Amino acid sequence: MSRIPAIWLMAALPAWAAGPTFTKDVAPILYARCAGCHHANDIAPMPLITYQQARPWARAMREAVVSRKMPPWQADARYGDFVNDRRLSQTQIDVIKAWVEAGAPEGDEKDLPPAPVYDAGWRLGPPDAVIQIPKDYMVKAGGPDEYVYLTVPTGFDHDVWVRAVDLRPGDRRVVHHAHVYLHEPAKPEAKNAANAKAGPALTFREGGLTHIKPDAPVVDDGCASPDGGNWPGKHPSENGGMLGSYLPGKDPDVFPEGYARLIPAGSTVEFQVHYHPSGTESFTDRTSVGLYFAKEPPRQRLRRIDISNYLFLIPPGDADHRVTACYTFAQDVEFMSYTAHMHLRGRDMRFEAVHPDGRRETLFSVPNYDFNWQNEYQLRRPVPIEKGTRLEIVAHFDNSANKAGNPDPGKVVRWGEPSYEEMMDGWIEFILPENGPARPGTEVSQAR
Ligand code: HEC
Repeated sequence: MSRIPAIWLMAALPAWAAGPTFTKDVAPILYARCAGCHHANDIAPMPLITYQQARPWARAMREAVVSRKMPPWQADARYGDFVNDRRLSQTQIDVIKAWVEAGAPEGDEKDLPPAPVYDAGWRLGPPDAVIQIPKDYMVKAGGPDEYVYLTVPTGFDHDVWVRAVDLRPGDRRVVHHAHVYLHEPAKPEAKNAANAKAGPALTFREGGLTHIKPDAPVVDDGCASPDGGNWPGKHPSENGGMLGSYLPGKDPDVFPEGYARLIPAGSTVEFQVHYHPSGTESFTDRTSVGLYFAKEPPRQRLRRIDISNYLFLIPPGDADHRVTACYTFAQDVEFMSYTAHMHLRGRDMRFEAVHPDGRRETLFSVPNYDFNWQNEYQLRRPVPIEKGTRLEIVAHFDNSANKAGNPDPGKVVRWGEPSYEEMMDGWIEFILPENGPARPGTEVSQAR
């Protein structure tokens, strides 16, 4: 065998192939794409900041990035262009792979970029106003999952525009997720549609949790029913009241430049906190919401709609149960973000627009839904939707024994708040192009 001078080989390969190192090649990727969750006291089980922390995980990191399990991102890349896309590029994956295969060397300390700094407190700095749940909430060891609703006055005596919202769980070990809804004083009926009050005849409350009654009518194909899958006679409000949310892996809501949410004088906020007891210890929680005010009235008021089916029934063992929900927009709107929300049996969800001319378009698709990662997918550019467009939310549930995490494949499953029952919601943030189109084609430059 002839010997090829080493120098020729070197010239033919990318720079890092000669020896990717942690300090020079890998740390910049981890700091940009992983450390946000993988740092002390956040949701990921281990920090990945120093070489000493990352080295034992080298092989697991290679597996996780090659399989695209990490960073978590469920949207099908074919639909939508998202400003908060956290997927790695193929080059970044190749760097991690080559580094692990080369024995995961540390490299020269001088190459190490400065480590990101995480504040245990508010992620956007001190808020202009903080509203807390009214008192410490005790989560008892071994107790059931609880959804707790707590209403607190804002105390605002004038209208306030909010440019960012951050929810801070009091104790991340037991707060599974939290939402904050806004209730305007003049419209007490504009309550959260998923709330028991919206469908009182069909729901009951037990141990702090709302469920649908077992004898409620069954509608799987909401799109074929006049209410679209919603409670009979109810339609989602286009002033949907959600102000902000905390979900594992979700960043604070920082609305794009020029956009804000309105909090009218005299409003109250309602916290919905999902507590999930952990281990053998009891915990006390004091979740709070931080509001960041806009300096001037925004060009665009951000709105939100929740398109839901509440009436589905998933038979025991059914691996592919289809449920739909529909809503027709009565005015021109522009979509800003999409969120798919189901519980543990959720399998996939798709948002399809049927335009007034009959054209069907897939806007968003989550082919492998994962309850642990309910990301909000924020569009890089607002998506214009003409008046008369019907939005179809199409979901499939897997109630078979093969579904990882299925609490009980032998159960009939209907709508309910606990994660062992199900929900089927497509959440959409949108604006009305009332001030002219929102800077057509311009980019929402900042991930939030
Ligand atoms: C949005 C938060 C988040 C981001 C971003 C993130 N991780 Fe994770 N990671 C988690 C959580 C939570 C877990 C534990 C639960 C799980 O395995 O799903 C985890 C688990 C892991 C594991 C263990 C996997 C296993 O199979 O046991 C590895 C390895 C990992 N992450 C590597 C990475 C790398 C590398 C990146 C960046 C390229 C990254 N993660 C980005 C949250 C995150």
